[in-house]
Amino acid sequence: MGGAVSTGTDNSDLIDNLVEANYIKSPEVQRVFRAVDRADYYLPTQRESAYKDLAWKHGHLHMSAPCIYSEVMESLLLEPGLSFLNLGSGTGYLSTMVGLILGPYGVNHGVEIHEDVVDYARQRLESFKINSASFDDFDLCEPQFVVGNCLQLVPGQLYDRVYCGAACPVEHENYMKNLININGILVMPLNDQLQQIKRTGETSWEVKNVLPVSFASLVVPGDDNKSDIVIAPDFHFLPLKAACRYSIRKTIRTNIHKEHPELHKVSKPKKKKPTSLRSRRPINIVPMSMGMMILRQFDSDDRSSLGDDGMDCTEDEVPIPKETICTFMKERVNELPIPSTLKSYLVYYRQ
Ligand SMILES: C[S@@+](CC[C@H](N)C(=O)[O-])C[C@H]1O[C@@H](n2cnc3c(N)ncnc32)[C@H](O)[C@@H]1O
Repeated sequence: MGGAVSTGTDNSDLIDNLVEANYIKSPEVQRVFRAVDRADYYLPTQRESAYKDLAWKHGHLHMSAPCIYSEVMESLLLEPGLSFLNLGSGTGYLSTMVGLILGPYGVNHGVEIHEDVVDYARQRLESFKINSASFDDFDLCEPQFVVGNCLQLVPGQLYDRVYCGAACPVEHENYMKNLININGILVMPLNDQLQQIKRTGETSWEVKNVLPVSFASLVVPGDDNKSDIVIAPDFHFLPLKAACRYSIRKTIRTNIHKEHPELHKVSKPKKKKPTSLRSRRPINIVPMSMGMMILRQFDSDDRSSLGDDGMDCTEDEVPIPKETICTFMKERVNELPIPSTLKSYLVYYRQ
Protein backbone atom coordinates (compact mmCIF):
# COMPACT_ATOMS: atom_id res chain seq x y z
CA MET A 1 0.00 0.00 0.00
CA GLY A 2 1.32 3.44 -0.84
CA GLY A 3 0.79 6.45 1.40
CA ALA A 4 0.93 10.19 0.86
CA VAL A 5 4.14 11.11 2.64
CA SER A 6 6.76 9.27 4.62
CA THR A 7 6.70 8.87 8.36
CA GLY A 8 8.48 11.63 10.22
CA THR A 9 11.00 11.04 12.96
CA ASP A 10 9.47 14.00 14.79
CA ASN A 11 6.98 16.80 14.09
CA SER A 12 9.50 18.87 12.19
CA ASP A 13 10.38 15.92 9.96
CA LEU A 14 6.71 15.16 9.29
CA ILE A 15 6.14 18.77 8.24
CA ASP A 16 9.23 18.65 6.01
CA ASN A 17 7.63 15.68 4.27
CA LEU A 18 4.29 17.44 3.85
CA VAL A 19 6.04 20.50 2.41
CA GLU A 20 8.12 18.41 0.04
CA ALA A 21 5.02 16.60 -1.22
CA ASN A 22 3.36 20.01 -1.70
CA TYR A 23 0.50 19.36 0.72
CA ILE A 24 1.65 22.35 2.74
CA LYS A 25 2.20 25.27 0.40
CA SER A 26 2.04 28.60 2.19
CA PRO A 27 4.67 29.77 4.71
CA GLU A 28 2.05 30.75 7.31
CA VAL A 29 0.43 27.30 7.24
CA GLN A 30 3.85 25.69 7.44
CA ARG A 31 4.73 27.88 10.43
CA VAL A 32 1.69 26.82 12.46
CA PHE A 33 2.11 23.14 11.59
CA ARG A 34 5.64 23.38 12.99
CA ALA A 35 4.40 25.22 16.08
CA VAL A 36 1.85 22.60 17.12
CA ASP A 37 3.31 19.15 17.74
CA ARG A 38 0.84 16.54 16.52
CA ALA A 39 2.05 14.05 19.15
CA ASP A 40 0.82 16.36 21.93
CA TYR A 41 -2.74 15.50 20.84
CA TYR A 42 -2.15 11.74 21.04
CA LEU A 43 -2.31 9.74 24.24
CA PRO A 44 1.16 9.62 25.82
CA THR A 45 1.39 5.86 25.24
CA GLN A 46 0.78 6.30 21.52
CA ARG A 47 2.97 9.29 20.72
CA GLU A 48 5.34 7.28 18.54
CA SER A 49 2.58 6.85 15.93
CA ALA A 50 1.84 10.58 15.66
CA TYR A 51 4.31 11.33 12.90
CA LYS A 52 2.82 8.83 10.47
CA ASP A 53 0.58 10.24 7.79
CA LEU A 54 -2.34 8.29 9.20
CA ALA A 55 -5.66 8.94 10.86
CA TRP A 56 -5.76 8.04 14.56
CA LYS A 57 -8.65 6.69 16.59
CA HIS A 58 -8.86 5.75 20.25
CA GLY A 59 -12.25 5.55 21.95
CA HIS A 60 -14.00 8.82 21.10
CA LEU A 61 -10.71 10.50 20.16
CA HIS A 62 -10.26 10.78 16.45
CA MET A 63 -7.82 12.73 14.29
CA SER A 64 -7.56 12.87 10.53
CA ALA A 65 -4.33 12.22 8.63
CA PRO A 66 -1.76 15.03 8.44
CA CYS A 67 -2.09 15.35 4.64
CA ILE A 68 -5.83 15.99 5.10
CA TYR A 69 -5.19 18.71 7.69
CA SER A 70 -2.67 20.27 5.30
CA GLU A 71 -5.25 20.47 2.52
CA VAL A 72 -7.86 21.77 4.95
CA MET A 73 -5.60 24.49 6.36
CA GLU A 74 -4.62 25.62 2.85
CA SER A 75 -8.22 25.56 1.59
CA LEU A 76 -9.52 27.69 4.46
CA LEU A 77 -7.44 30.70 3.31
CA LEU A 78 -7.15 31.91 6.89
CA GLU A 79 -6.28 35.46 7.84
CA PRO A 80 -5.86 37.29 11.13
CA GLY A 81 -9.09 38.59 12.65
CA LEU A 82 -11.49 36.17 10.93
CA SER A 83 -14.18 34.17 12.72
CA PHE A 84 -13.82 30.37 12.55
CA LEU A 85 -16.13 27.51 13.46
CA ASN A 86 -14.85 23.94 13.72
CA LEU A 87 -17.64 21.34 13.51
CA GLY A 88 -16.48 18.12 15.18
CA SER A 89 -13.54 19.89 16.80
CA GLY A 90 -12.18 16.69 18.40
CA THR A 91 -8.84 17.01 20.18
CA GLY A 92 -8.50 20.69 19.27
CA TYR A 93 -5.35 20.10 17.19
CA LEU A 94 -6.73 21.87 14.12
CA SER A 95 -8.43 24.59 16.18
CA THR A 96 -5.12 25.46 17.84
CA MET A 97 -3.29 25.74 14.52
CA VAL A 98 -6.09 27.91 13.16
CA GLY A 99 -6.00 30.07 16.31
CA LEU A 100 -2.34 30.85 15.73
CA ILE A 101 -3.22 32.40 12.37
CA LEU A 102 -6.40 34.20 13.53
CA GLY A 103 -4.53 36.05 16.25
CA PRO A 104 -5.97 38.10 19.11
CA TYR A 105 -8.89 39.69 17.29
CA GLY A 106 -10.28 36.55 15.70
CA VAL A 107 -13.07 34.24 16.83
CA ASN A 108 -12.32 30.54 17.28
CA HIS A 109 -15.24 28.25 18.15
CA GLY A 110 -15.49 24.47 18.15
CA VAL A 111 -18.46 22.15 18.57
CA GLU A 112 -17.91 18.52 19.51
CA ILE A 113 -20.52 15.90 20.28
CA HIS A 114 -18.58 13.97 22.95
CA GLU A 115 -18.10 15.62 26.33
CA ASP A 116 -15.00 13.56 27.17
CA VAL A 117 -13.41 14.72 23.91
CA VAL A 118 -14.15 18.38 24.75
CA ASP A 119 -12.53 17.85 28.19
CA TYR A 120 -9.53 16.34 26.47
CA ALA A 121 -9.32 19.24 23.99
CA ARG A 122 -9.41 21.77 26.86
CA GLN A 123 -6.59 19.94 28.64
CA ARG A 124 -4.54 19.83 25.45
CA LEU A 125 -5.08 23.56 24.95
CA GLU A 126 -3.91 24.37 28.50
CA SER A 127 -0.89 22.16 28.00
CA PHE A 128 -0.07 23.94 24.73
CA LYS A 129 -0.27 27.32 26.46
CA ILE A 130 1.95 26.23 29.33
CA ASN A 131 4.44 23.89 27.66
CA SER A 132 4.73 24.74 23.99
CA ALA A 133 8.09 26.13 22.95
CA SER A 134 6.32 28.04 20.15
CA PHE A 135 3.64 29.75 22.17
CA ASP A 136 5.62 33.00 22.57
CA ASP A 137 6.06 33.23 18.81
CA PHE A 138 2.34 33.83 18.25
CA ASP A 139 -0.77 35.56 19.54
CA LEU A 140 -3.19 32.69 19.94
CA CYS A 141 -6.89 33.19 19.35
CA GLU A 142 -7.89 30.68 22.01
CA PRO A 143 -10.38 28.07 20.83
CA GLN A 144 -13.64 27.90 22.78
CA PHE A 145 -15.20 24.45 22.70
CA VAL A 146 -18.82 23.55 23.37
CA VAL A 147 -20.43 20.13 23.70
CA GLY A 148 -23.27 19.32 21.37
CA ASN A 149 -24.40 18.13 18.00
CA CYS A 150 -23.19 20.62 15.42
CA LEU A 151 -26.27 19.93 13.31
CA GLN A 152 -28.38 21.54 16.03
CA LEU A 153 -26.77 24.96 16.26
CA VAL A 154 -29.15 27.81 16.94
CA PRO A 155 -29.37 29.57 13.57
CA GLY A 156 -28.22 33.13 13.05
CA GLN A 157 -24.53 33.26 13.96
CA LEU A 158 -22.46 33.25 10.78
CA TYR A 159 -18.71 32.73 10.43
CA ASP A 160 -16.01 33.73 7.93
CA ARG A 161 -14.57 30.24 7.89
CA VAL A 162 -16.13 26.88 8.76
CA TYR A 163 -14.56 23.43 8.75
CA CYS A 164 -16.48 20.22 9.21
CA GLY A 165 -14.29 17.35 10.42
CA ALA A 166 -16.72 14.54 9.56
CA ALA A 167 -18.64 13.71 6.38
CA CYS A 168 -21.69 15.89 5.91
CA PRO A 169 -24.85 13.92 5.07
CA VAL A 170 -26.28 15.35 1.82
CA GLU A 171 -29.53 16.40 3.50
CA HIS A 172 -27.50 18.80 5.71
CA GLU A 173 -25.53 20.42 2.88
CA ASN A 174 -27.64 23.59 2.87
CA TYR A 175 -27.54 23.89 6.65
CA MET A 176 -23.72 23.91 6.41
CA LYS A 177 -23.63 26.36 3.53
CA ASN A 178 -25.77 28.77 5.52
CA LEU A 179 -23.30 28.89 8.41
CA ILE A 180 -20.90 31.10 6.45
CA ASN A 181 -20.96 34.81 5.71
CA ILE A 182 -21.09 36.08 2.16
CA ASN A 183 -17.45 35.83 0.92
CA GLY A 184 -16.89 33.21 3.61
CA ILE A 185 -15.41 29.76 3.02
CA LEU A 186 -16.67 26.35 4.15
CA VAL A 187 -14.44 23.29 3.88
CA MET A 188 -16.15 19.95 4.37
CA PRO A 189 -16.25 16.35 3.16
CA LEU A 190 -19.36 15.83 1.08
CA ASN A 191 -20.09 13.01 -1.33
CA ASP A 192 -16.60 11.59 -0.80
CA GLN A 193 -14.90 14.83 -1.80
CA LEU A 194 -13.23 17.37 0.39
CA GLN A 195 -14.93 20.51 -0.90
CA GLN A 196 -14.02 24.17 -0.64
CA ILE A 197 -17.26 26.15 -0.83
CA LYS A 198 -17.19 29.94 -1.20
CA ARG A 199 -20.35 31.87 -0.53
CA THR A 200 -20.71 34.41 -3.31
CA GLY A 201 -24.15 35.80 -2.42
CA GLU A 202 -27.23 35.30 -0.26
CA THR A 203 -28.18 32.18 -2.23
CA SER A 204 -25.09 31.43 -4.31
CA TRP A 205 -21.96 29.40 -3.64
CA GLU A 206 -18.94 28.32 -5.69
CA VAL A 207 -17.85 24.75 -5.10
CA LYS A 208 -14.39 23.32 -5.73
CA ASN A 209 -13.39 19.71 -5.17
CA VAL A 210 -10.07 19.69 -3.34
CA LEU A 211 -9.44 15.99 -2.81
CA PRO A 212 -11.27 12.67 -2.96
CA VAL A 213 -11.73 11.47 0.64
CA SER A 214 -13.83 9.17 2.72
CA PHE A 215 -14.61 10.37 6.23
CA ALA A 216 -16.75 8.87 8.97
CA SER A 217 -20.15 10.56 8.90
CA LEU A 218 -21.37 13.26 11.27
CA VAL A 219 -23.67 11.84 13.92
CA VAL A 220 -27.20 12.83 12.97
CA PRO A 221 -29.61 13.73 15.82
CA GLY A 222 -31.85 10.81 16.75
CA ASP A 223 -35.55 10.89 17.57
CA ASP A 224 -34.91 11.23 21.29
CA ASN A 225 -32.73 14.36 20.92
CA LYS A 226 -34.16 15.95 17.80
CA SER A 227 -35.35 19.01 19.69
CA ASP A 228 -32.05 19.68 21.51
CA ILE A 229 -30.32 22.91 20.59
CA VAL A 230 -26.68 23.92 20.73
CA ILE A 231 -25.67 27.48 21.48
CA ALA A 232 -22.28 28.58 20.18
CA PRO A 233 -20.34 31.06 22.32
CA ASP A 234 -21.01 34.75 21.63
CA PHE A 235 -18.66 36.85 19.56
CA HIS A 236 -17.27 39.11 22.24
CA PHE A 237 -14.82 41.96 22.33
CA LEU A 238 -11.45 41.14 23.79
CA PRO A 239 -11.28 42.56 27.35
CA LEU A 240 -8.97 45.57 27.54
CA LYS A 241 -6.60 43.78 29.92
CA ALA A 242 -6.14 40.89 27.46
CA ALA A 243 -5.76 43.34 24.54
CA CYS A 244 -2.98 45.12 26.50
CA ARG A 245 -1.24 41.82 27.12
CA TYR A 246 -1.28 41.01 23.40
CA SER A 247 -0.02 44.47 22.56
CA ILE A 248 2.85 44.43 25.08
CA ARG A 249 3.87 40.92 24.07
CA LYS A 250 3.79 41.91 20.39
CA THR A 251 6.08 44.88 21.02
CA ILE A 252 8.49 42.68 22.97
CA ARG A 253 8.38 39.99 20.30
CA THR A 254 9.02 42.50 17.51
CA ASN A 255 12.07 43.79 19.38
CA ILE A 256 13.36 40.26 19.98
CA HIS A 257 12.99 39.44 16.30
CA LYS A 258 14.78 42.64 15.29
CA GLU A 259 17.69 41.66 17.49
CA HIS A 260 17.54 37.98 16.51
CA PRO A 261 16.24 37.80 12.91
CA GLU A 262 17.22 34.15 12.70
CA LEU A 263 14.34 33.32 15.07
CA HIS A 264 11.67 34.27 12.57
CA LYS A 265 12.85 32.07 9.74
CA VAL A 266 10.47 29.38 8.49
CA SER A 267 12.70 26.37 8.20
CA LYS A 268 12.78 24.61 4.87
CA PRO A 269 12.92 20.86 4.46
CA LYS A 270 16.34 19.73 5.53
CA LYS A 271 16.54 16.67 3.37
CA LYS A 272 16.23 16.41 -0.35
CA LYS A 273 14.76 13.14 -1.44
CA PRO A 274 15.03 11.48 -4.82
CA THR A 275 12.56 13.01 -7.28
CA SER A 276 10.49 9.85 -7.51
CA LEU A 277 9.78 9.94 -3.79
CA ARG A 278 9.19 13.65 -3.58
CA SER A 279 5.93 13.52 -5.43
CA ARG A 280 2.61 12.66 -3.82
CA ARG A 281 1.73 9.07 -3.28
CA PRO A 282 -1.57 7.50 -4.27
CA ILE A 283 -4.38 7.87 -1.79
CA ASN A 284 -5.58 4.79 0.04
CA ILE A 285 -9.00 4.66 1.55
CA VAL A 286 -9.25 2.02 4.20
CA PRO A 287 -12.48 1.04 5.90
CA MET A 288 -12.45 1.32 9.69
CA SER A 289 -14.83 -0.12 12.21
CA MET A 290 -16.42 3.26 12.95
CA GLY A 291 -17.13 4.11 9.32
CA MET A 292 -14.69 5.00 6.57
CA MET A 293 -11.67 7.15 7.09
CA ILE A 294 -9.01 8.09 4.64
CA LEU A 295 -5.64 6.61 5.44
CA ARG A 296 -2.53 7.53 3.56
CA GLN A 297 -0.36 4.83 4.86
CA PHE A 298 3.35 4.95 4.26
CA ASP A 299 4.53 1.63 3.01
CA SER A 300 7.40 -0.46 4.18
CA ASP A 301 10.00 1.31 2.10
CA ASP A 302 9.89 4.07 4.75
CA ARG A 303 12.68 6.56 5.34
CA SER A 304 15.20 3.80 5.94
CA SER A 305 15.03 2.73 2.29
CA LEU A 306 16.04 6.16 1.05
CA GLY A 307 19.58 5.65 2.21
CA ASP A 308 21.95 8.42 3.13
CA ASP A 309 22.51 9.26 -0.53
CA GLY A 310 18.99 10.63 -0.79
CA MET A 311 19.55 13.18 1.92
CA ASP A 312 21.25 16.48 1.76
CA CYS A 313 21.37 18.29 5.07
CA THR A 314 21.48 22.03 4.65
CA GLU A 315 22.83 23.11 7.98
CA ASP A 316 22.29 26.80 7.39
CA GLU A 317 18.53 26.23 7.34
CA VAL A 318 18.34 24.52 10.73
CA PRO A 319 16.39 26.94 12.92
CA ILE A 320 17.52 28.07 16.32
CA PRO A 321 15.63 26.08 18.99
CA LYS A 322 12.25 27.62 19.80
CA GLU A 323 13.09 27.73 23.51
CA THR A 324 15.07 30.82 22.74
CA ILE A 325 12.02 33.00 22.11
CA CYS A 326 10.50 31.82 25.42
CA THR A 327 13.70 32.63 27.24
CA PHE A 328 13.93 36.08 25.66
CA MET A 329 10.25 36.79 26.32
CA LYS A 330 10.60 35.89 30.00
CA GLU A 331 13.76 37.97 30.32
CA ARG A 332 12.18 41.04 28.74
CA VAL A 333 9.01 40.77 30.80
CA ASN A 334 11.09 40.40 33.96
CA GLU A 335 12.87 43.65 33.19
CA LEU A 336 9.60 45.63 33.08
CA PRO A 337 8.99 47.99 36.02
CA ILE A 338 5.68 46.37 36.98
CA PRO A 339 4.45 44.19 39.87
CA SER A 340 5.27 40.49 39.70
CA THR A 341 1.59 39.54 39.41
CA LEU A 342 1.41 41.49 36.14
CA LYS A 343 4.63 39.90 34.93
CA SER A 344 3.08 36.47 35.57
CA TYR A 345 -0.03 37.55 33.66
CA LEU A 346 2.10 38.73 30.74
CA VAL A 347 3.83 35.34 30.46
CA TYR A 348 0.55 33.45 30.89
CA TYR A 349 1.70 32.17 34.30
CA ARG A 350 4.36 30.03 32.63
CA GLN A 351 7.23 29.09 34.93
C1 LIG B 1 -12.01 13.27 12.45
S1 LIG B 1 -12.58 13.91 13.95
C2 LIG B 1 -12.03 15.59 13.87
C3 LIG B 1 -10.80 15.80 14.68
C4 LIG B 1 -10.37 17.24 14.79
N1 LIG B 1 -10.26 17.87 13.51
C5 LIG B 1 -9.08 17.37 15.58
O1 LIG B 1 -8.29 18.31 15.29
O2 LIG B 1 -8.85 16.58 16.50
C6 LIG B 1 -14.34 14.12 13.75
C7 LIG B 1 -14.99 14.59 15.04
O3 LIG B 1 -16.36 14.90 14.78
C8 LIG B 1 -17.10 14.57 15.92
N2 LIG B 1 -18.53 14.51 15.52
C9 LIG B 1 -19.14 13.57 14.77
N3 LIG B 1 -20.43 13.91 14.55
C10 LIG B 1 -20.64 15.09 15.21
C11 LIG B 1 -21.75 15.95 15.35
N4 LIG B 1 -22.93 15.68 14.78
N5 LIG B 1 -21.61 17.08 16.07
C12 LIG B 1 -20.41 17.38 16.65
N6 LIG B 1 -19.33 16.60 16.55
C13 LIG B 1 -19.42 15.46 15.82
C14 LIG B 1 -16.49 13.27 16.37
O4 LIG B 1 -16.79 12.96 17.72
C15 LIG B 1 -15.00 13.55 16.13
O5 LIG B 1 -14.38 14.06 17.28
